Amino acid sequence: MVLVDSVTRAGQSMVTCGRRSREEDTAAAGSAPRSRSERPRGAGHVASVPESPRLAKFHVPEIVFGPGSLVEAAHAAARLGARRPLLVTDDGLLAAGWPQQLLAHLADGGMDATVWSGVTPNPKDHEIAAGHEAYRAAGCDVLVAVGGGSVIDAATGIALLAGNGGLITDFEGIDRMVAPIPPMVMVPATSGTGADVSQFCIVTDTLRNTKITILGRALVPDVSVVDPHLLTTMPDWLNAATGLDALTHGIEAYVSRAHNPLTDHHALQAISLVGGHLERTMDHPREQESRTHMAQAALEAGLAFTNAILGAAHAMSHQVGGLLDLPHGVINGILLPHVVRFNAASDPARFVPIAQALGFPGEVGRSCSQALAEDAAEWAACEVRRLADELGVPKALSEIGVTEADVPTLSAMTMADACLSTNPREADQADIAALFRQAL
Ligand SMILES: NC(=O)c1ccc[n+]([C@@H]2O[C@H](COP(=O)([O-])OP(=O)(O)OC[C@H]3O[C@@H](n4cnc5c(N)ncnc54)[C@H](O)[C@@H]3O)[C@@H](O)[C@H]2O)c1
Ligand SMILES: [Fe+2]
Repeated sequence: MVLVDSVTRAGQSMVTCGRRSREEDTAAAGSAPRSRSERPRGAGHVASVPESPRLAKFHVPEIVFGPGSLVEAAHAAARLGARRPLLVTDDGLLAAGWPQQLLAHLADGGMDATVWSGVTPNPKDHEIAAGHEAYRAAGCDVLVAVGGGSVIDAATGIALLAGNGGLITDFEGIDRMVAPIPPMVMVPATSGTGADVSQFCIVTDTLRNTKITILGRALVPDVSVVDPHLLTTMPDWLNAATGLDALTHGIEAYVSRAHNPLTDHHALQAISLVGGHLERTMDHPREQESRTHMAQAALEAGLAFTNAILGAAHAMSHQVGGLLDLPHGVINGILLPHVVRFNAASDPARFVPIAQALGFPGEVGRSCSQALAEDAAEWAACEVRRLADELGVPKALSEIGVTEADVPTLSAMTMADACLSTNPREADQADIAALFRQAL
């Protein structure tokens, strides 16, 4: 692994960059790029040509945001007609005490909630079936979830089955659900997944040992209530993992083939907020201000990726998560620098604003040279790795249990993941296998 040894920190990168004269840049601009993949490295100007307007769609739930907003989830459930909501959560959240507070708010609102907490991290297909059975048996009418991405995905899966029946694995892919689903109110307890605003539902298929992606506009929750107070009980490892997940969402959404100006704004804002505040939340875990910034980062990253979709880091991460049942954000943190370099090799320009959002110290005007764009992209990859190091994330997949023998299966399964279709650079199975080996 040369990932960390190859780090060119801000100053070094820019010394090289700064030595390029304006004449050199102008001369280089003469060699016009032929196509993305043929474009020679280190030559030509990176165009700042505005992209032609495209149809942009942007879906978003109703959002209530702010410290102390937990009670609003009960008001939202009541507005949606809840009489007997199913409150989905897990043991970790019950130990922290947040579901009990929400249960009291629901009771104050005259609702008779049933608590179901049978979810584990990387929620399993049979857990969703059990949750659906609990929903049905108690005659529930609305889903309310308080928890991390696993709890929120489980609640979404239960809603999907309540409306459509069948097995959760039947719905893998895009828009496979046909019937309406019950209303959903989501309260995220981690600052990372954005599942509370997303049209994704990620579930572990225990037969195939993989995480399936279920995608559909019908799955966008009705209301997301983001109360940054809930983040203060996260253990450090979870804060680190989910913060890196939000960063990965921002970066993959920004370079996605399906990005648009509306998603770009949220993606860059999320990247900047994670870069500016994640480390501070580790050093000052009870400080509300930085927690609030990270809650906003996760939210905006969610708004970006649910509309722009993701890329190769997530397509690969889902396979590792399904195989080894490990924290999603940690796997992303290991894979992301490799995927950034792979994508930037064909088009570094898109990574310049990402690098700037992370604090790239280079002078970048309305157009910049190909060499400067390459520097910025490499700086961004190194900055992601530096952050992961600061947070204590392992450097290599081998450190978390992935072996060379897993690579063929992991790469074959990555090819079928819906997130790969929006990766900005075409990647075949050999490319994906090479990326897995680099990350080993
Ligand atoms: N649907 C989407 O759009 C989407 C996006 C990204 C990730 N995901 C999925 O989300 C899952 C990961 O979710 P996650 O990283 O938020 O963690 P998680 O929900 O898996 O929770 C991990 C553990 O942390 C505990 N925990 C969570 N919040 C806590 C808090 N505030 N205080 C104390 N303990 C707390 C939980 O009890 C659990 O034991 C993965 O399965 C991933 O695939 C979904
Ligand atoms: Fe994610």
